Amino acid sequence: MLFSKHSSSLMALLVVTFLCNSFAFAFQPEGYNYDEAKVPAYSLPDPLKFEDGSAVRNAQQWKTKRRAEILHLFETEVYGKSPARPACLHFEQTSFSDNALDGIAIRKEVSIWFNKEKTGPHLDLLIYLPKQKTPAPVFLTLNFKGNHSISKDPQIKLSQQWMRASSNSGIVDHRATEKSRGVASSRWPVEMIIKRGYGLATMYYGDIDPDFDDGFQNGVHPLFYKKGQTKPNADQWGSVAAWAWGLSRAFDYLETDCAVVSEKVAVMGHSRLGKTSLWAGATDERFAIVISNDSGCGGAALSRRHFGETVERINNVFPHWFCGNFKKYNEKESTLPVDQHELIALIAPRAVYVASAKEDTWADPHGEFLSLLHASKVYELLGKKPIASKQWPQPNKPITGSIGYHVRTGKHDVTNYDWNRYLDFADLQYEK
Ligand code: GCU
Repeated sequence: MLFSKHSSSLMALLVVTFLCNSFAFAFQPEGYNYDEAKVPAYSLPDPLKFEDGSAVRNAQQWKTKRRAEILHLFETEVYGKSPARPACLHFEQTSFSDNALDGIAIRKEVSIWFNKEKTGPHLDLLIYLPKQKTPAPVFLTLNFKGNHSISKDPQIKLSQQWMRASSNSGIVDHRATEKSRGVASSRWPVEMIIKRGYGLATMYYGDIDPDFDDGFQNGVHPLFYKKGQTKPNADQWGSVAAWAWGLSRAFDYLETDCAVVSEKVAVMGHSRLGKTSLWAGATDERFAIVISNDSGCGGAALSRRHFGETVERINNVFPHWFCGNFKKYNEKESTLPVDQHELIALIAPRAVYVASAKEDTWADPHGEFLSLLHASKVYELLGKKPIASKQWPQPNKPITGSIGYHVRTGKHDVTNYDWNRYLDFADLQYEK
């Protein structure tokens, strides 16, 4: 054989990456733990103890000091630090219809540019709003396959961006075609959301940073390099942090749109974009509700459980998602200065909803629930009710309050069942 040992393991990695990306969870990779009895003994960092070991005694101490300690650790050791809002953001409405979805909705598209000259990368935000006189609360989300993939609506701009190869999605040479319209619509019940009185705003995550490891040469990262810098430093933003940053820029637009109630924006994401929505909610306190759907490792699941996907596996297969420093914890989860329950704690006292799927063992559904459980005491300290159940609930038996959770039957996906729970949860928070 012409392949060296090195090149054949590289080939294996490429094949694994391709499979993961193409069939997202059609399989549970072998060689990982899916057995609850084999979860190692672990002890979690205490969100209510300062780094010097003393106890956080009241809400004030949490708000002024402890929260900042935890946020700093996630920024420098896990996701990487993101830049502030750029001085110049330029919003341009590129389309408008007050007769969308058979007349029940307003649809508009807005481009977000980082300079007035409209050069360099930009983000295309697609917005559906209920046709009503009063401003609407909104779900803000990123999508995997372009705005045109969420609905067959022929007026939606077809993305020109790089897309990952994906079977039956009409993608040719990494670009969308007319056949790509509506290919992801099963995950986007737009009419249902509109009929419940909510808006939906969504953006292709590849507009912010295309999801492949190119050493951070494309997407928004290069906009912020210092003179001579060619890639982020070990404590600076990876792709997940960049996607979350993009959500904040979309929020910057929503704040200017008088048809939107900016105090009622929920950020929602699935899988890698669920990891992203949690980080967006942690870093941007303007989000009123934060929803993670099947986010797994590096999202809602506790890393120390070593159940399903591990820190080493995610860093090897997706080296661009987290910051350089996160690689220090490959196979050393017990040395992480934080765990994912503290990511949830950063969202407190705002409403948080974590959803799991029973067959999605790769994402460690039980570990996703446990993060909420262990974050619950921070909610209590901040005057909210603790999580409603200390036991992992049965499938399709949601728990609610300020902390919401369900594990649905079925596989890794976003379904109408999930969306119905998010709409109910939002109704509860907004007393609708
Ligand atoms: C991979 C990855 C997960 C991720 C998922 C997705 O399977 O291992 O961490 O959540 O892709 O985003 O679809």
